[in-house]
Amino acid sequence: MMGRPWQLPPDWPAPAPEARAHSERLAGLIRSEAGETGLSFARYMELALYAPGLGYYSAGARKFGEAGDFVTAPELTPLFARALARTCEAGLVALGGGDLLELGAGSGRLAADLLDALAERDALPGHYLILEPSAELRERQRRLFEERAGGWAGRVQWLDALPSDGSFTGLLIANEVLDARPVELFEWRADALLQGCVAWREDGFVLDYEPAPGTPLEERVRALAADLALPEGYRSEIDLGLDAWLASLAAPIARGAMVFIDYGYGRAEYYHPQRAGGTLMCHYRHRAHGDPLLLPGLQDITHYVDFTAVAEAAQAAGLAVRGYCTQAHFLLDNGIDGLLAELALPEEGARYLAAVQALKTLMLPGEMGERFKCLLLTRGLDAPLPGFRGQDLRSRL
Ligand SMILES: C[S@@+](CC[C@H](N)C(=O)[O-])C[C@H]1O[C@@H](n2cnc3c(N)ncnc32)[C@H](O)[C@@H]1O
Repeated sequence: MMGRPWQLPPDWPAPAPEARAHSERLAGLIRSEAGETGLSFARYMELALYAPGLGYYSAGARKFGEAGDFVTAPELTPLFARALARTCEAGLVALGGGDLLELGAGSGRLAADLLDALAERDALPGHYLILEPSAELRERQRRLFEERAGGWAGRVQWLDALPSDGSFTGLLIANEVLDARPVELFEWRADALLQGCVAWREDGFVLDYEPAPGTPLEERVRALAADLALPEGYRSEIDLGLDAWLASLAAPIARGAMVFIDYGYGRAEYYHPQRAGGTLMCHYRHRAHGDPLLLPGLQDITHYVDFTAVAEAAQAAGLAVRGYCTQAHFLLDNGIDGLLAELALPEEGARYLAAVQALKTLMLPGEMGERFKCLLLTRGLDAPLPGFRGQDLRSRL
C-alpha cells in the first residue's frame, strides 16, 4: 500500500491549512523515527494516535460527535450511559460500595451521564476515577463536568497511572478503548510469516509486508494458524500488548469487575477465512475507509476486538469471565425500554423521535446492536449483574 498522506478523494473535505500543517509535523516525527529501516505498524499506529501533542487522540482535533470523525454510543444518547449505570449500581451494591474507574473517557459524555443517572438513584460511587492518556481530552472532560455542575463533580479524579497497591474495589468500564489499541499487521505464509511495516519513500508512506522470523509476532500467528487453519496469504491484525495491558488493569483490583464494550467477535469469527483482509478501519469526518497512512493525526485508526484474546488475557490475570453478550441484549437486560420512557415521552414530539432514532442505532442488528459486544470480567464478585443475565455468548469465545 502506498499513500500520499494528504491526497484525498476529490469529494472529501480537505483539512484546514493549520490542520494540514499539524499533520505534516506528525508525519515528520514518524519519518524521523522510521529512518531507513521503517517502523512496525503497531508503532506507526501508536504515534499516529498518541504521539504527545501531535497524535490524533493527544491533540485538539474535534473527533467525537456530528462535527467530528465518528460517533460513539454515549455521544449518541444518554440512554447508553443510563443503561450502563444499572450494571454499575448493582455491582457497587454487591460489593458493599466502591469506586468506578473509566478508561479512555473521550469527551466525558459517558461519565457525566452515568454520574447524573447514579445521582438520581442515590447510588453514586465513592470516586469516579478516569485514566485518560490524552491531555487534550482530560481538559475537554474537565470543561464538560464544569458545565454540567452536577453535585458529583468533587468525586471525579484523573489518574496518571493505575493504583499500584491492589486496593481497588469497584468497577472498571471502557467503551471503545480496546479498538484504539495499537495492533500489528501480518500476512500468513506457512514458510515465512510477513509483518506489516511502515516507511517513507519519496513523497509518501508505504506499508510493506516483510519477513519476521523468530519474532513474538511469528510465534503468536503460528499458534493462531494452527488453531484456525488460516489460508495462505491471509492478512489480519493482532494486539501483542494485550496480555500485559490486561494484567496491569487486573493487578489493582481487590474485588470488582471490568466491563468492556466494543465492536468485535470471538476468535473463530474474527479470523474467519472470509475476513481475509483484516478489520482495520479509519475514520475521517464520518467517512470510513481502509487507508491508515492517510492524514496522520487527523483521522482515527481502529480495528475490531478479538474478545477471545481479551478473555484469555483476563483469565491469565486471575479474573473470571462472567458474561459476554451483544450490546442489544445488554441494553435490553438493563431495561432500556423503561429508560426511554424516563427520558422522553411520545407527546414530546421531536425529542422523543430523536431518542427512539438513537435507540434504534444502538440496538438494531445492522447498526450497533450485534457488532458491539459487552464482556464482563470479575474478581471476588459473584452476583449476576444486570446487562449480562439475558444472553450468554461465552461459548463463542
Ligand atoms: C474511541 S475513543 C472512545 C471514547 C469514549 N470512551 C466514548 O465511548 O466516547 C478511545 C478513547 O480511549 C483512550 N485510550 C486509548 N488508549 C488507552 C489506554 N491504553 N488507556 C486508557 N485510555 C486509552 C483515548 O484517549 C480515547 O479517550
